[in-house]
Amino acid sequence: MNGRLRLGLIGCGFFAQNHLHAWRDLKAEGVDLVAVCDTDAERAKAAAASFGVPRWYTDAREMLANEQLGLVDIATQMGTHLELVLLAIGHGVPTIVQKPFGVDIAQVRQMVEASDRAGVFLAVHENFRFQKPLRRIREVVESGAIGKPSWARISFRTGYDIYTGQPYLSRQERFVLIDVGVHVLDVARALLGEVTHLTAELQRRNAAAIGEDTATMLLRHESGAVSVVECTYGSRRVPDSFPETLIEVEGERGAIASRIGNLVEVTIDGKMTSSSEDPEVLPWATRPWHVAQESVLATCRHMLEALRAGRPAATSAADNLRTFALVEAAYQAAGKVAPVA
Ligand SMILES: NC(=O)c1ccc[n+]([C@@H]2O[C@H](COP(=O)([O-])OP(=O)(O)OC[C@H]3O[C@@H](n4cnc5c(N)ncnc54)[C@H](O)[C@@H]3O)[C@@H](O)[C@H]2O)c1
Repeated sequence: MNGRLRLGLIGCGFFAQNHLHAWRDLKAEGVDLVAVCDTDAERAKAAAASFGVPRWYTDAREMLANEQLGLVDIATQMGTHLELVLLAIGHGVPTIVQKPFGVDIAQVRQMVEASDRAGVFLAVHENFRFQKPLRRIREVVESGAIGKPSWARISFRTGYDIYTGQPYLSRQERFVLIDVGVHVLDVARALLGEVTHLTAELQRRNAAAIGEDTATMLLRHESGAVSVVECTYGSRRVPDSFPETLIEVEGERGAIASRIGNLVEVTIDGKMTSSSEDPEVLPWATRPWHVAQESVLATCRHMLEALRAGRPAATSAADNLRTFALVEAAYQAAGKVAPVA
């Protein structure tokens, strides 16, 4: 695909602000955000005014019918994804959708099948594996420098107030596992490969939330590696690592450990080197969000490159189905373990 790409964004809420900035940064790389849509007219209008977008809509059907789009980016909450993805795919428009891909695996399968049938690009904006420290860790693992990984811990533990920015989270029956578990489970797959089985323990430590706010999982990977994958919004720690994911990977020849502050330590054959993988604080970014914000730009850029090259994104619909299957498996497995006599 050559020439400039005409993009439409659906959803102009809390996290979409990062998408709006990222796409504006990517204008120099050939993307024109030509239309935004939000059922809340004020939000759509404000996004169009702030980002110089020519047209705004309150109905995605109208936007798809009126605009000749080369890409649609959906940044609404998960309950709307199925309808909006099927709409965009139905128009034959390549589509990116925020995580969580859907509300359950049946919806996710429906979207994967629809994009397969139509032969239309569909990818999930799964940005954790694109965070700068994570990019570095993946690079080291893939280089083989620490040998074959046999054990890992992927840990997202925070007490940061996520409820103010995303008040809907405390009202979700499926909470931390589908919201952030989906990210850390994706990281586990990205680092250690596919999973054969897992077990999980879920806890609700914050009485104000309806769903679980803590998940602790144990995974066996096809390679034989084992990983501990954990996420919580209920930690009370100083310093708080938000929004960093702390990783440890052990291999035959060495290990990798990330530390708060986006530091990555790599040990190979008994020698440790430490590097700062703190990302650039983009002009529109603020600490401590900058690691997430830079990853949004990296994710959007990856999507563009994949689309232009005519190949699926690393976090394609089919790929994300595998991550989503881990979320479903963890909900199914929760508490189903041999009792201790
Ligand atoms: N990748 C990440 O790191 C990350 C971080 C935070 C949130 N998210 C995800 O981003 C998504 C959005 O979350 P948010 O906190 O920004 O939610 P939000 O409620 O602030 O924003 C969603 C917006 O979509 C609009 N909307 C709803 N239905 C619509 C429709 N049918 N057509 C057009 N607009 C519609 C709403 O009016 C709202 O403005 C969620 O899936 C969330 O999990 C991802």
